[in-house]
Amino acid sequence: MLDPCTFVIFGATGNLARNKLLTALYHLEAAGRLPKELVVLGIGRRPWEADQWRAEVQEALGARVRGGLDEAVFGRLRERLQYYRLDLNDAAAYQGLFRTLADGARFPENLVFYMAIRPAEFGVVARNLAQVGLNREDTGWRRLVVEKPFGYDLESAELLDERLHRDYREKQLYRIDHYLGKGTIQNVLVFRFANLMLEPLWNRNYIDHVQITHCEARGLDGRAEYYDGAGALRDMIQSHLLQMLTLVAMEPPVSLDAESLRDEKVKVLRSIRPIPKSAVHAHAFRAQYARGRIGGEQVRGYLEEDGVPANSTTETFTALKLFIDNWRWRNIPFYLRTGKRMAKDNSLIAIRFKHPPQQLFRETQIDRIRPNWLLLNIQPNECLRIELQVKEPGLEMRTQTTRMDASYCGIDQTGLGAYEALLLDVIGGDHSLFLRYDEVSWAWRVVDPILKVWSVERDFIHTYPAGSWGPREAGRLFERDDQRWRNTLEDDEDAT
Ligand code: BG6
Repeated sequence: MLDPCTFVIFGATGNLARNKLLTALYHLEAAGRLPKELVVLGIGRRPWEADQWRAEVQEALGARVRGGLDEAVFGRLRERLQYYRLDLNDAAAYQGLFRTLADGARFPENLVFYMAIRPAEFGVVARNLAQVGLNREDTGWRRLVVEKPFGYDLESAELLDERLHRDYREKQLYRIDHYLGKGTIQNVLVFRFANLMLEPLWNRNYIDHVQITHCEARGLDGRAEYYDGAGALRDMIQSHLLQMLTLVAMEPPVSLDAESLRDEKVKVLRSIRPIPKSAVHAHAFRAQYARGRIGGEQVRGYLEEDGVPANSTTETFTALKLFIDNWRWRNIPFYLRTGKRMAKDNSLIAIRFKHPPQQLFRETQIDRIRPNWLLLNIQPNECLRIELQVKEPGLEMRTQTTRMDASYCGIDQTGLGAYEALLLDVIGGDHSLFLRYDEVSWAWRVVDPILKVWSVERDFIHTYPAGSWGPREAGRLFERDDQRWRNTLEDDEDAT
């Protein structure tokens, strides 16, 4: 049973609230998973009445919710929606918020504060809340949800964390990485630890390398102001892709409780070989999209997007090579790659096995045996595929690649999405899928040297045409000539 609570959203009229949070609350409403007494208090700068906000939410949801807006479900959600106008930087104005929330007849006393605002404002809002006592738990619990990126680099993340800890206990903090809420990402853990079969192979003796790719066809979605200051390395790699890497590489945790899981993830991050500044170019590659075509339509280049400075060298594509210096993974490259305005939306974990040690087929027509791949497609379709070599029918001794797909591949398994799961966890007080600060901090340590070098090299950036799979030059990160990017489940080893 979930406690009654007031779910306060800072940045209620912004992108994240509209695209993800309110959509998630709607789906939870539809699934009957919200506590009966839950009120959503949207906070924004605009001088709106609650009804105006409700109308705006209805319009936004109409275009986003699965299966179209159901009037009855929205009617129930609508009843919960309240609006409060606040200038986030006006510390004195938080007294008014305090008084409003103290009205127990309207607002349940347990409070979630969700920071759907610019990262630069996290610290200020948290402080302002604390100054009027809204961090204190004498009447009900108080939980603060902090979105990513948590900080701008290692130093600012440290400062932010110190700042939050001045007023909040760790138990009250929920550092969100919505990738951990995706069922398909959690499936990586289940796949690894609920099946004995692959465990003996899951190491440097059998695996050649691992690729983790997240490609998006979409561009900035109106977020130029944030994105141009962040870039792909901060936006995706420091958070989502490094989290995916920890799940692929971690040792089995003692149990699935929050601390055991996070202990193991931190061990992976701590074992990543630091990249010295002098080796940044050998380990990291960045690029920016130029004009191109996606789905038959001409799209603008990054520099032509509204809100992007004409001389920006912010990367919209990043590829990275990392090594994990532990007994399981030493010297096995992990290639991470992400980009906007790529050919397709697709996220894939591709694991390539080594070649069999003996060239048994040397004297036959098989000139080169292709290696096995294990492919975990994360989105848009979840699939688990193993590629094996079999004999081609016919008299000659030739091989061909065959695919074993798990029976769930291709079946639409849309359940509750990432934000739905995580919002329920916040209300239920479960930290397992949220980040502990040491995870965030070690992830910053991985990317910090790259950020430092890139921040001073601002004269040139490679480009790739929108609608492509990124620049060919990204291939220079590979350790050997026989390594190639895998973009989707379908393309085979010979594709680029
Ligand atoms: C967000 C990034 O965290 O994740 C976005 O800020 C990115 O730039 C998004 O598009 C991708 O998430 P999903 O769930 O759509 O794959």
